[in-house]
Amino acid sequence: MFDVNEIRKDFPMLQGKTMNGHPLAYLDNSATTLKPRQVIEAVNHFYCDITANAHRGDYELSQKVDQLYEETRKIIARMLNCDPLEVAYTSGTTYGVNQVAWGYVRTHLKKGDVILITEAEHASNVLPWFRLADECGFKIEYIPLNEEGRLTIENFRKALHEGVRFVAVAEIGNVLGYRAPVKEMCRLAHEIGARMLVDGAQSVPHGHTDVKDMDCDFLCFSAHKMCGPSGMGVMYGKSELLKETEPLCLGGGSNARFFSCGDVILKESPYKFESGTQNIEGIMGMGAAASYLMDIGFDNIAAHERELRDYLVRQLEKLDNVILYNPNGDSGIVTFNVKGIFSQDAAGYLASQGIAVRSGNHCAKILVDFLKTDDTIRSSLYFYNTKEDVDALVEAVRTCTIENCIGIFF
Ligand SMILES: Cc1ncc(COP(=O)(O)O)c(C=O)c1O
Repeated sequence: MFDVNEIRKDFPMLQGKTMNGHPLAYLDNSATTLKPRQVIEAVNHFYCDITANAHRGDYELSQKVDQLYEETRKIIARMLNCDPLEVAYTSGTTYGVNQVAWGYVRTHLKKGDVILITEAEHASNVLPWFRLADECGFKIEYIPLNEEGRLTIENFRKALHEGVRFVAVAEIGNVLGYRAPVKEMCRLAHEIGARMLVDGAQSVPHGHTDVKDMDCDFLCFSAHKMCGPSGMGVMYGKSELLKETEPLCLGGGSNARFFSCGDVILKESPYKFESGTQNIEGIMGMGAAASYLMDIGFDNIAAHERELRDYLVRQLEKLDNVILYNPNGDSGIVTFNVKGIFSQDAAGYLASQGIAVRSGNHCAKILVDFLKTDDTIRSSLYFYNTKEDVDALVEAVRTCTIENCIGIFF
């Protein structure tokens, strides 16, 4: 049974923490998430009990680390419904997308081929493609968003043509929180022989992910957005495609042999992508985070977020000083502005009332043209948030006036 009050007991950051004299309402979960003690303990376990390098030692401690290192791969594979050998550790979504761009797309597309993205993508799913376009002569085209800012299957159909060889989109956008129809998109992309990467940074932590069912070619996400440690993430790739993907980074751990003549024999995937000592404690923490989320149940997580989100939207709609940008969003992301107040000033006032949200363009710098505003306030919910958090936000938004914002500096 899902009981948010029981769940909150797992999070040290939710034990009576205050911000500016108010109970902390942490509503910045799209930026990063809080960590439960299960994750903290897994990281501590590595530091306190089993510190050793992975895949490099012949003593018990190191073998224990090897075992946990591979165990996490199995846990993640269970979460994604894939083979553990299709799970490559990365430092996060950003690295994963760059790895796919440089290691697969660069070598599989030719000059003039088209990479399709949207104007709603995070910088991490735009800039790697811009660089490739610049260096290799690929073309970037945008799938038009509908009037609400959504990526619809109709618009995707219109944007697809024989020149499109690669598609890279976020399953859930980090500003408007809409869900893209990725399964249907993969099917259509494959029909014309194109490959597709799904940026799962905002979706994997919040609901079921089944890469087999979705049939995506690559999927990247970050552990820190799913209760895990920072600097840790995953690049999933279909095994046959990982074989054809060159590692972005070379060094110890990724090679089987190298010779003075310069020849290098790389290890098989996913090990060829894991050069250098990896973020071992991050891997253990990510494994604990994934197990923790699966124990709670992704259906429960999604349902709780949905309920809170609907409640938040209903409450914000009652206020006449609010501009809401995504009243019909599909996730815990609710984006708005307070009329006549610069978003950062408003966020500063909200912080003075104990509310943590994000303001600005949220790294989606092309979307500002669509939204017709440079800055918004983004509140983002997770399964440990409560109605009280939402009430605190709504009350702070209600009292957010220019007068109240004056003199607030952080
Ligand atoms: C949709 C999306 N993609 C990619 C990223 C980048 O993630 P990271 O900074 O963990 O690499 C983010 C982070 O906010 C995101 O929201």
